[in-house]
Parts: sequence; C-alpha cells; structure tokens
Amino acid sequence: MSQPDPSEITPEHIYLNRRQFMLGLGALTAGLALGACGGTTKTPAAATPLNQVTPYSGPETDDLQHELTSYESVTHYNNFYEFSLDKERVAQLAQDFQTSPWQVVMGGLVRNPRSFGLDDLLAFDQEERVYRMRCVEAWSMVIPWIGFPLWKLLEIVEPTAEAQYVRFETLYAPNRMPGQESAVLDWPYVEGLRLDEARHDLTILSTGLYGKSLLPQNGAPVRLVVPWKYGFKSIKSIVKIDLVEDMPLTSWMQASPREYGFYANVNPNVPHPRWSQATERRIGVSGRRETLLFNGYGDQVAHLYAGMDLEKNF
Ligand code: MTE
Repeated sequence: MSQPDPSEITPEHIYLNRRQFMLGLGALTAGLALGACGGTTKTPAAATPLNQVTPYSGPETDDLQHELTSYESVTHYNNFYEFSLDKERVAQLAQDFQTSPWQVVMGGLVRNPRSFGLDDLLAFDQEERVYRMRCVEAWSMVIPWIGFPLWKLLEIVEPTAEAQYVRFETLYAPNRMPGQESAVLDWPYVEGLRLDEARHDLTILSTGLYGKSLLPQNGAPVRLVVPWKYGFKSIKSIVKIDLVEDMPLTSWMQASPREYGFYANVNPNVPHPRWSQATERRIGVSGRRETLLFNGYGDQVAHLYAGMDLEKNF
C-alpha cells in the first residue's frame, strides 16, 4: 500500500464523516487536513535560555546523528486541533494565544497536591534535549527541546501507592482556542501515561525549543514530550496533571479506539489500520526512511514493556 501524504490522513471517525459529507449526508468543514499523531542531551550552562535573542547554538544532530528539522518547519507545520486541523494554519491562528498567567494543577492520588505557575516550572533546571518526534501520520522531525524531566514534579507531589497512571489535560477555553468550537474531539484534549513511563528520564515537560520559549503553536507555555511514542502523546498547553488508579481514556482512544491505542509506542510492525508505520518522511529531507521500533529509543525503554504483547497493546 502506498504511503499517504500527511495532508490526506484523517482519523477514522472524521474520515467517515467526511465521506458522508461527500455523499451529501453529513457536514464537516471541507478542505481541512486531519490526523493524529512522537537523544542527544546537553544541559546548557545557563539554566533558563528562554526568550533569548541569540541564535541557537546547541547540538546540530540527535543521538543517531540525524540533523535537526528547521525552526521554520518546527514552528509552522503543527498539529494542534484546538486551533485548526490544517497544520499550516495553526501558527497564524494561535499567534495571539495568551499563555500568561498560567497554572498547572497537580493532584489526584498524591500526598502533596500542588499548583505550579510558569515561574515555578522555569525554576527547574531547563535541559536541552534533541529528540526525534514521530507522528502517527508517518512524518517525523528532529527537535532541540528545552525542558525538565516530569519525574521532578512527581517527586514533589508524591504519588500514593494506589496511583498507577498519569492523566494530562489541555486548557479548555473555546473563546481562546477556536478549534474547541467544533466537535472534532471531545474537549479538553486528554492524554495519559503509565506511572513508570511518566517517571522515565526521557519523559520531559518542555517549555521551549531551539533555545527560545515555546510558541503557542508548539504547546506554550508547557507541553509533554515522550520521544519513544507517537507525537499525539505529547500533549500541549497543559493545565492539569492527575495521578489516577485506572488507565485514563485519552482523546484519541475515545475518538477512534481501533486506530489509537493507549501505549502509542512507535512500532513499525503494527500498521495503523489505514496505512503502514514501516517508514516515515522526515520533514525537510527527501525520500523515506525506515521507522525504528520505539523511535530508536529501545535500549532505554524496551524494559518497560517486558512480557507485554505490543501488537495487542498498541
Ligand atoms: N496537544 C493538544 N492539546 N492538541 C493537539 O491537537 N496534537 C498532537 C500533539 N499534542 C495535539 C497535541 C499531535 S497529533 C502531534 S503530532 C504533536 O502534538 C505535534 O506537535 P508539534 O506541532 O509541536 O510538532
């Protein structure tokens, strides 16, 4: 089967709606690109290089010597359904999104529920980490993120013994995020990780990229980055993080459970029901490359899934 162009990819429920639209039976905005979507580590000498005007001077490749995707592409080819389903329009539609003041409320099954303002988050040492992101739509980028490991927040709030999963929520504010006026997903956007995945050192909360603060289109002021999973796990503009006992129902599982599993580990051997995951298109690079199991981070994360059938737990 030939690989789809990302702009042609559509979640099944929307795809079906669109077919109905084409057949004159239903209506969904036409002409939109739809779809869901995944190092080199360096701790900069200065802990908080955000908002700097100097050019980026960090590593030029990731741990596999893959070159960085351009800043222009990283900031102008985005998935952020709260603003648009058209990847090339998100940046413009999100440009006036106000991200200050901002609070991330952490609670649920924890000993010390806490609310973190942006300054609290920026007070953690902000490391620079170059990670590959592999979107479920079979394109990928290499991005120099700035952020800190999520485990640092988990250490502070102290999950109780009952806590098994972490549930993340994006801001819900249809007056500020126009895409939430449409029922394309059941808002707010929700994602989840198993607690051991959330505690893994590769899992970061990001506040910037390319040495600068995150722009709204990339999930300002704070988003998750989980490099061994498809990009849709990397939830943007987070306002709530809860420790919970049961596996959270994520937005994409709810929208289309056949297409999007909870684990969402990058796995070339498990095709998406409508296209292969064996290869990917690196944005800005011609041709296709083979997709690596766990997006190439297997030596660090495969043990988390020992004994699990990753074809069933996709
Ligand atoms: N987070 C929210 N709140 N809403 C979204 O639509 N899209 C996800 C993820 N996080 C999304 C989100 C998907 S599908 C991908 S591939 C990545 O964000 C894209 O991140 P980027 O635009 O910074 O490359």
